Amino acid sequence: MSTDLSTLSLFRATPEQTIETRRRTLNEWGKGLTLEEHLHRDASQEDYECSRDGRFTSWVLAPREDPQTLDFKCACETFKRPGLVVDATKSKSAEEVTCYGIATVFTPSANRGKGFARHMMRLLHWVLADESLLPPSEFPAAWGAPPPKVDGTRNGRFSALWSDVGDFYSTCGPVRPAEGWVIRGTATTTWDVDTSNVPVGAGDWTWLDYAGCSKLWEEDAQSMRSDMENSASPGPRFSYLPTHGVGSYQSRRLEMYLQRLPTPPQTWGVTSSDHTTYATWAIDPRPPTPRTLVVTRLRATPQSFRQLVGKILEPARKYDVKRVEMWNLSAELENIAATLNAKTYLREEHLPAFKWYGKESEAEISWFFNERFCWC
Ligand SMILES: CC(C)(COP(=O)(O)OP(=O)(O)OC[C@H]1O[C@@H](n2cnc3c(N)ncnc32)[C@H](O)[C@@H]1OP(=O)(O)O)[C@@H](O)C(=O)NCCC(=O)NCCS
Repeated sequence: MSTDLSTLSLFRATPEQTIETRRRTLNEWGKGLTLEEHLHRDASQEDYECSRDGRFTSWVLAPREDPQTLDFKCACETFKRPGLVVDATKSKSAEEVTCYGIATVFTPSANRGKGFARHMMRLLHWVLADESLLPPSEFPAAWGAPPPKVDGTRNGRFSALWSDVGDFYSTCGPVRPAEGWVIRGTATTTWDVDTSNVPVGAGDWTWLDYAGCSKLWEEDAQSMRSDMENSASPGPRFSYLPTHGVGSYQSRRLEMYLQRLPTPPQTWGVTSSDHTTYATWAIDPRPPTPRTLVVTRLRATPQSFRQLVGKILEPARKYDVKRVEMWNLSAELENIAATLNAKTYLREEHLPAFKWYGKESEAEISWFFNERFCWC
């Protein structure tokens, strides 16, 4: 018998429910870890800078009459993040905004195919979106009352997720089904490290540890702001920012695996001495995928890109990395990458998909710096 979806709502998970969400995802996301290690890794994630001060939340879809049950239907996680919006019709200056990243959407096998994840995701807009842009008066009556308000939410100007289930999330709109998250920007450029012939980068460069990357991302945020303010692209523009621990999340999530390597990597970025060309990265050592260095943020000109790639390949070789991966290079840099033996293709997993909570449609919106740093 199918469940009347209006009897369910979205609730912030209790601590017990949060642990239950993690138990359920061991096979999916705890590759190579024991249950204890998996639970420990997920619990430590709550101490990361990007999670602190209420920025991390677990959500469950549960019966309204028993919201704290451990037998909830499905769950997901959100990270509140810093972002920028430029709407040149209103102002040339970028506005600092709150936005959200969504992760770990999961329905246990026994509950699948009953519409639970779709309902959870369409309700999720109603706890994330800025209340003035998605007023409770527009909540579909057929779904019952809107989800209870949680302190510190209902302030998001946009949200995004990285889909491993194709276009499913486009059908999870806040009011009309087809107005969910829109996939944008899946271009992926990769180098095979063993056969790469890019020469070692010349010039004066500085290697960056965690602290060095954090400092760089503070400066980077200023450059990202100027790029967005000076762009001629029509329509509103948005970006996530790599500050407040957002950039370092990429490597911290993989720490447990990296610590098992004979020589755990210590270097997470490189910058030219004038800080105009740089890259930061994470290294994913989990088999069976070839060990991959994924660039999280990159800033380079067509003149400096070749040298930067040469520098990135140094730690890649040192740590026995097989693939270097970059997301959504500009057309100019993508062409140069092709001359350096890189391949560019459209990725079929981790598809970036966003929902804009303004009155404009997603087709009118530009996503700036749609790179790996904001993935979660
Ligand atoms: C994806 C998932 C959350 C869907 O949960 P659910 O409660 O069964 O979802 P719903 O019943 O609301 O909707 C099912 C829809 O998801 C689609 N779907 C499920 N798995 C899919 C996949 N791997 N690729 C594409 N679509 C998929 C189904 O085709 C179905 O679409 P339809 O309604 O148009 O027929 C669930 O299958 C799951 O937890 N999978 C494992 C973890 C995972 O991959 N999570 C997503 C990470 S981005």
